[in-house]
Amino acid sequence: MNGFNPLSETSVTRWRPLSDAEFGRFREILYREMGIHLSDEKKSLVAGRLMKRLRHYRLTNYSDYLEMAHDARNGEELRVLLNLLTTNETHFFREADHFTFLSGILRARADSGTFRVWSAACSTGEEAYSIAMVLDHSFSGHAWEVLGSDANDDVVRRAKRGVYHIESVKDIPEPFRKKYCMRGVRSQEGRMLIGESLRRRVDFRTIKLNRPLPPIGTFDAVFLRNVMIYFNNATKRDVLDRIYPLIKQGGYLIIGHTESLVEFGGAYVKEAPSVYRKP
Ligand SMILES: C[S@@+](CC[C@H](N)C(=O)[O-])C[C@H]1O[C@@H](n2cnc3c(N)ncnc32)[C@H](O)[C@@H]1O
Repeated sequence: MNGFNPLSETSVTRWRPLSDAEFGRFREILYREMGIHLSDEKKSLVAGRLMKRLRHYRLTNYSDYLEMAHDARNGEELRVLLNLLTTNETHFFREADHFTFLSGILRARADSGTFRVWSAACSTGEEAYSIAMVLDHSFSGHAWEVLGSDANDDVVRRAKRGVYHIESVKDIPEPFRKKYCMRGVRSQEGRMLIGESLRRRVDFRTIKLNRPLPPIGTFDAVFLRNVMIYFNNATKRDVLDRIYPLIKQGGYLIIGHTESLVEFGGAYVKEAPSVYRKP
């Protein structure tokens, strides 16, 4: 029949699965660049997430992709690789008791100048906007600032846009929904936008916690949630040491409920589950 050729051996793409050695090299890159430690069980996750780049470049094995990402002239591919290997799961008002705690701190520290909060691994921005909603709602008239940052610059870009799937509003308490969220219509159907007045009060930046921090000032509260789980103890210690001087005296460090400061928390007083105060 016209338009068809015999299916020869060579026309069938032969993928070579990710070998242990290749996985080891991806692991080294991720640790060196992000401080993220991948356990052996993450091999299939790495293979799956990078498969789309192999397809994109029509490569049949991960070694060729490693060469490409290593090529100094191709810094862009290293950036893509790192962004693909971070886990960015988050949602609005995740671990809701932290936000209740935040409004309490606010009242206690109302007289101490501009109230500053840092969402230090903010992913796509839901955490930073949740903080901003609480501050704006309970603290109107008072000066406050929120900084959201992440090592993955793709998620930082999405955070700045402030556009989310409409389903995500279900996590936002009713009064905040009405006040700070806009429903998409026509071409934006199915989406939700954080209102401009809140968006312009939240600053987003790309910051790697495993590297020296840029000058960002000091904070009344730092949310460092669900990121230390990706670090080994040495990186955890470095990151915590770097953040400690940036917390104002009497200020707070808030970590994820599944995380702990047990070995590192000597410098803090525990105030509530996963909430620590710098005395
Ligand atoms: C699971 S999300 C947590 C988001 C949010 N804090 C929460 O609790 O919902 C973890 C985030 O940490 C970021 N991350 C991983 N390593 C990092 C590093 N070295 N510096 C800054 N951010 C990092 C990832 O890009 C990801 O967006």
